Amino acid sequence: SSNPSSYKYEDYRETADWLLSHTEQRPKIAIICGSGLGGLADLLDNKTVFPYKDIPHFPNSTVQGHVSQLVFGELQGKQCVCMRGRFHFYEGYDIAMVTYPVRVFFLLGVETLIITNAAGGLNPNFKVGDIMLIKDHINMPGFAGHNPLCGHNDERFGVRFPCMSDAYDKDLSSLAKETAEEQGCSSFIQQGVYCMLTGPTFETIAECRALQKLGADAVGMSTVPEVVVARHCGLRVFGLSLITNKVVTDYNSQEKANHDEVLETTGMRTQDLQRMHHQQYLQSATT
Ligand code: 6GU
Repeated sequence: SSNPSSYKYEDYRETADWLLSHTEQRPKIAIICGSGLGGLADLLDNKTVFPYKDIPHFPNSTVQGHVSQLVFGELQGKQCVCMRGRFHFYEGYDIAMVTYPVRVFFLLGVETLIITNAAGGLNPNFKVGDIMLIKDHINMPGFAGHNPLCGHNDERFGVRFPCMSDAYDKDLSSLAKETAEEQGCSSFIQQGVYCMLTGPTFETIAECRALQKLGADAVGMSTVPEVVVARHCGLRVFGLSLITNKVVTDYNSQEKANHDEVLETTGMRTQDLQRMHHQQYLQSATT
């Protein structure tokens, strides 16, 4: 089922209370790390690590060889909680499981969600290795009835009909842009619209062309459900996409989207992203 009412308020509450009783940390910031970008969690100071399988009600990651941990710690002296390994719809998790951690973050007292992903570049001006600050999204699974807020609405999380025209926080995005400039990253910073498809197939040429016409700049298989649930419960959201490959839009092209290419690019930009994160924390500590 794609119905979040498969979880009750009490489930999220029990998970949050269990975590609160197992760590002294009280983070205001949560980070969901995209494919290949989980290394950020290693850099936290004073870490407390919880494997997902130990956390009550938490969806368990089934993918072999993937790290699946919730990591509490400090970045530039600011407490945060970091998801290493997220849940994707294409893995077979229902959409309530994919977004389960976000409501737990809310009940922990988190106020800001930072979310990253690897994405294909649809905008012809984008280059592999660019970092796109997400200014808006297209919830394509939502068009097909997979919206995480379908079903009973629990007012303790948010309103029945939440606004999404302000999903991505403008101030956080400006701060990231300034940070990138200070860190010498401006040559590869972009801004744009992220479109989610469920995957696991990469897009056909016709699909890529259609998405370009719809106004999407990047395409991926994550992020949007988490953002919808985060905005429902009033979290501020900052999102970015690492452009790991360019989509194919030409029938004469020999290029083929593949996962190895995605991982290669995440490796190449890891350091830049971590520097940006650090500097951003430093700045947000003073604003
Ligand atoms: Cl080209 N498509 C999708 N759907 N997800 C991706 C991607 C492409 N590249 C990285 N992630």
